[in-house]
Amino acid sequence: MESSHGNPLDLDRCISGFDKVVRVLLGEPVARRPSPGEGASEDNLDHATRRHAAALMRVNHCGEVCAQALYQGQALASSNEMVRKALDQAASEESDHLAWSAERVRELGGQLSVLNPLWYAGSFALGYVAGRLGEDWNLGFLAETERQVEEHLQGHLGRLGDRDAKTRAVIEGMRQEEAEHRRTAERLGARELPDAARRAMRLAARVMTTLSYRI
Ligand SMILES: [Fe+2]
Ligand SMILES: [Fe+2]
Repeated sequence: MESSHGNPLDLDRCISGFDKVVRVLLGEPVARRPSPGEGASEDNLDHATRRHAAALMRVNHCGEVCAQALYQGQALASSNEMVRKALDQAASEESDHLAWSAERVRELGGQLSVLNPLWYAGSFALGYVAGRLGEDWNLGFLAETERQVEEHLQGHLGRLGDRDAKTRAVIEGMRQEEAEHRRTAERLGARELPDAARRAMRLAARVMTTLSYRI
């Protein structure tokens, strides 16, 4: 097994990677932990409020599709066992986020983004490139991604109605875990990304969030 970690394009890893792609894009995600929204109330939301909340959760679901792809690309390219373990742990929590956000979109009567395969492919490529740049850059990219996701989720809390306690609970639960992912990456030696890279990431995220709010 050890030797397979040295070769990023090992066949077993490619097959299990492909299996993961199919599950993220076509499968019905199943969470291992209960959603933080479980038991929270909805307080008779009107149609417009539900539509807006469904669109925000579609954006978040799309972000989680990207997270799956990024982590997968990064783990595939990384040859450091400790980093791979941290990536796997975070990826398993991201799988729950994927399931929680998909469930909430559907509960609110919305649909998942039709552009998910596109975001998946782009994020996978980005993650792979980051993984090949070396562990400190790989972790730096991860930490910056999580930081931007945290800010973005915080922004969504501001845009949601106070009465939608259920959606708020899901977003807050995810936000706390994204913060933990960032701290883990920083502990493991994340390097601070150059300003230009951070700005480019923000721009890419804006394109993704604007489009997936609508489709
Ligand atoms: Fe997440
Ligand atoms: Fe995360």
